[in-house]
Amino acid sequence: MRLFQALIFTILITTSVLAQKGNNQKVTLSKTEFIEQLLSKMTLEEKIGQLNLPTSGDITTGQASSSDVAKNIKEGKVGGLFNIKTAEKIREVQKIAVEQSRLKIPLLFGMDVIHGYETTFPIPLGLSSTWNLSLIERSAQIAAKEASADGINWTFSPMVDISRDPRWGRVSEGSGEDAYLGSEIAKAMVRGYQGKDLSLNNTLLACVKHFALYGAPEGGRDYNTVDMSRIRMYNEYFPPYKAAVDAGVGSVMASFNEIDGIPATGNKWLMTDVLRKQWNFNGFVVTDYTGIQEMMEHGVGDFQTVSATALNAGIEMDMVSEGFLKTVKKSVEEGKVSMERVDQAVRLILSAKYDLGLFDDPYRYCDLKRNKTDIFTVAHRNEARKTAAESFVLLKNDKGLLPLKKSGTVAVIGPLGNNAVNMPGTWSVATKHEKAIPLEDGMKSVLGKSVNVLYAKGSNLVADAAYEERATMFGKTLYRDNRSKEELLNEALQVASKADVIVAALGESSEMSGESSSRTELGIPSVQKELLDALLKTGKPVVLVLFTGRPLVLVEESQKVAAILNVWFPGTEAGLAITDILFGDESPSGKLTATFPRSVGQIPIYYNAKNTGRPLGNTEGKFEKFKTNYIDERNEPLYPFGFGLSYTQFTYANLQLSADKMRSNGKITASVEITNTGNYDGKEVVQLYIRDVVGSVTRPIKELKGFQKIYLAKGQKQTVTFEITEEDLKFYNSELEFIAEPGTFHVFIGTNSDVTEYKPFELVK
Ligand code: BGC
Repeated sequence: MRLFQALIFTILITTSVLAQKGNNQKVTLSKTEFIEQLLSKMTLEEKIGQLNLPTSGDITTGQASSSDVAKNIKEGKVGGLFNIKTAEKIREVQKIAVEQSRLKIPLLFGMDVIHGYETTFPIPLGLSSTWNLSLIERSAQIAAKEASADGINWTFSPMVDISRDPRWGRVSEGSGEDAYLGSEIAKAMVRGYQGKDLSLNNTLLACVKHFALYGAPEGGRDYNTVDMSRIRMYNEYFPPYKAAVDAGVGSVMASFNEIDGIPATGNKWLMTDVLRKQWNFNGFVVTDYTGIQEMMEHGVGDFQTVSATALNAGIEMDMVSEGFLKTVKKSVEEGKVSMERVDQAVRLILSAKYDLGLFDDPYRYCDLKRNKTDIFTVAHRNEARKTAAESFVLLKNDKGLLPLKKSGTVAVIGPLGNNAVNMPGTWSVATKHEKAIPLEDGMKSVLGKSVNVLYAKGSNLVADAAYEERATMFGKTLYRDNRSKEELLNEALQVASKADVIVAALGESSEMSGESSSRTELGIPSVQKELLDALLKTGKPVVLVLFTGRPLVLVEESQKVAAILNVWFPGTEAGLAITDILFGDESPSGKLTATFPRSVGQIPIYYNAKNTGRPLGNTEGKFEKFKTNYIDERNEPLYPFGFGLSYTQFTYANLQLSADKMRSNGKITASVEITNTGNYDGKEVVQLYIRDVVGSVTRPIKELKGFQKIYLAKGQKQTVTFEITEEDLKFYNSELEFIAEPGTFHVFIGTNSDVTEYKPFELVK
């Protein structure tokens, strides 16, 4: 034993992994040898300790060793901690692990670094709307740099759950409804966080979540039952998780929901057959918060049973439940969990720590100087501003109301118009919310004296004070105004009367979406709608700047308001980025990644639907008996997937394929000419969709298979080409084999998923 302690001491104080052999000859151990040696010295209790992930609890700076969790760390009962930050505090806690626990194994330090750290980028749904993979990757890179400067080495991101249900509040945390786009973004995020070398002190271990299908709860109610066919899972919901695994993500988080009647946390088919055997995942799996404990509520066993089920299913780390800590020893003694399975799980945790470089230097991420140079820097904030501006989606712009002129008086009216703390959006735990820039401040700082900017609140968020409380948790207050509705409205109308243009800053508060924030009604809250109506009645031009964490139902607004700019929750630089777009320093270039329905009754609604046996065809808008449609609503959405306007116009022409046949291992090229025919320079997201016309199973009417974001100066023309290979034509058939079937395919290239013009080709084998 003394020999091992000498070994681990050597390991911890040197930068290379060295061991003392009996004859005192130093040899470099391979990673496997190192882990096996360490494992061989561990007691069963110490092994189980590595699988335990508590929250940081009562740890405060300078007091770490007297905290409750410190006792467990000293006893080797903790593998990692989360919800703790600052290099100083983390150094203190790490010191307890590497100096006071018997085996001196360093800890992982995790946090929900979801869309930036202190410099906060748009919510993920907004980030995805940029369709700009390099910006997205860069946002993750910056988040990694900032979080690691604060001592963190593991992030619970990316969240890649596909969702077609905007009632579910967590649509805000994902990349929308499409598996292809979601996969590309998943890879970009993993690359951004983990970089090329995980052991560098400015990269983080990523964790793809929530595996799996968390975005498809019944009724859109968070944590609710999920039930779906395997063929749908493989084709429509699994791809982004698999893409993250293929990109080398180091960890996976289990979801709260059940799959095939078994909670994901205890689902062996999911965690072992799919994740390990089919996808060759070689990192570790962590539960979600109290995931193991919740299996008791799901009704699948007592504490010992569910803990053993989870471990045997393929979970390696237990977040908060302490089910492993408290019951696995007994399960091993009773033969319910094998020693081999425990060892396998420990190896994976140690392996992540090894890859992060923690055995070389447990304080690698605890540089006490970096937080002054690497967090919330001007350069990072500029990136966040640029990214936010690219995430905004222009939904309507009649008669070129936007961009606004940089002169005269603008009245910013609405509860979201000068509120800092709601700008970063949900799941922004490391943000200093009060440092975010609201719209009014942003306008004043960008426009200076050229524009006179006025502000009035106009209304509260919602009429019901109790609802407002539920919608403004975690300090995200909207400072409820206790004046009457009429008083607030009158004040707003007075301010509006002095203005040339009204900018109505309306929508959701940031906590109206996110975890446990499901909604059944998806309009702008009615008290704000009344405000909007009153503003419209003034006859002055009104621009709606919409804040939202999900697709909303905007039928009335789309009819009444001349210009609608959807800004999601833009992050810390919100007010600056919105001003950049409103006043034309940048042209909007975001496109929706989730369909905006016309009514809640259409949900789930998504562009890549199946044709059915009774399609409505091109009589859309007219009811037809015995066709698939509603008697009280149209089929098509208000705004389709991929939709977004620019200040300029892009004309598509001359769609061409390089051949009308493709051989099995061959490829063809699709091209189209795009011209900027409007009056501004701008960016366009060119989208490639393919339809597999006949299959052994029914195929969607259209699937995104490529996209490019291009910049065209006013008057400029460009031919955009896409290469199509057999890989792009593959899908999972009824045997769940990933194959391409010979036959006809239609190729569409357009500005959104509504594109109708196509060119056909044949895949011949
Ligand atoms: C969420 C996860 C998150 C975890 C840790 C859970 O409630 O579902 O997304 O990573 O908490 O904070």
